[in-house]
Amino acid sequence: MLRLTIFGSSHGPGIGCVLDGVPAGIDVDRDDVQRELELRKPSGALGTPRVEEDRVEILAGVMDGRSTGAPVVLFIANKDTDSSKYEKFRATPRPGHADLTALRKYGETVDLRGGGQFSGRMTAPLVAAGAIAKEMLRGLNVQIAAYTQRLGSVVDDQERTFKEVRRQARENPVRSADPTLALDMIHEIMEAKHEGDSVGGVVRCLVVGLPMGVGEPFFDSLEGEVAKMMFSIPGVKGIEFGAGFKAASMRGSEHNDSFQVVDGEVSTITNNAGGVLGGLSNGMPLDIKVAFKPTASIAIEQRTIDLDRMEDTTIKVEGRHDPCIVPRAVVVVEAATALVLADLCLRGDFIA
Ligand SMILES: Cc1cc2nc3c(=O)[nH]c(=O)nc-3n(C[C@H](O)[C@H](O)[C@H](O)COP(=O)(O)O)c2cc1C
Repeated sequence: MLRLTIFGSSHGPGIGCVLDGVPAGIDVDRDDVQRELELRKPSGALGTPRVEEDRVEILAGVMDGRSTGAPVVLFIANKDTDSSKYEKFRATPRPGHADLTALRKYGETVDLRGGGQFSGRMTAPLVAAGAIAKEMLRGLNVQIAAYTQRLGSVVDDQERTFKEVRRQARENPVRSADPTLALDMIHEIMEAKHEGDSVGGVVRCLVVGLPMGVGEPFFDSLEGEVAKMMFSIPGVKGIEFGAGFKAASMRGSEHNDSFQVVDGEVSTITNNAGGVLGGLSNGMPLDIKVAFKPTASIAIEQRTIDLDRMEDTTIKVEGRHDPCIVPRAVVVVEAATALVLADLCLRGDFIA
């Protein structure tokens, strides 16, 4: 019921989205949307290139700070459009990027400038739309907060409360829920950068306040919809709910979340299910972990192929590279979660 179209490409005039299905009367404050976008930009503190701020414009669907019921159209103009260095990737595709697969699927007219439609930049409109979805959920008291749970070899293995994540994760450039671990994560990024290399990591996203019964099984189960959305984010390689893959090695007696009644409310004592039973929310916090691969663009020379000569060659991807996209992806995962939940809440009549 909530339909999102993302348009544009990294090196065209701009990027944006059309969000259709937003009910009339939702508060849409441009400054709130802008604040979310700013969490997605590279942090100069991590040795990543500083970029001029993206500025979101609301072109339609909002009047006097509230949605009108018409499609909401958001636009972000592109600034850095030097695309000359991307031409050579048509003949020598970059390992870890979509150059080769896109060329084979779309042919010579494909836009590879800045990664084209495969660029991580396409997540900016996703974040902007997500800010509106978050506002839709706020009316239901549903709140979302994500943090960097793993960055390369640095793992945050503490059980984090929603409040803790909310308070801490936006206070440091790596979006860690722990200020000391944040320093280790920064060190991990700097080490990879020094070696011209990159690191990946895991974003954990918690959702509280979700009523019981959100999800549309069979095929549009809560897990299914969330997973599909997460795999739309460039660089995502895996997802877990609750105990996730660990569930495979647990006994039923260990994994089952026993029910209890506290202050007249039903809950479970543990949350190995990650807030989902039978594809429906069970009233416990939704607990999602999303794995990101290490950034594909690295400064180290790599093996590739020359498609004109059909022979092996090597490539050095020039320019300044972001050695880790995980901190920037934290707000993207939040937005993706918000969009799926807002849609499922509309479908289940939780939002009028
Ligand atoms: C917020 C964000 C920023 C990204 N920035 C970069 C980047 O600077 N360099 C890069 O190589 N990949 C970056 N990526 C990931 C690539 O776009 C992605 O790995 C590539 O298009 C191949 O797609 P796949 O990894 O999903 O298979 C970014 C992803 C996100 C979510």
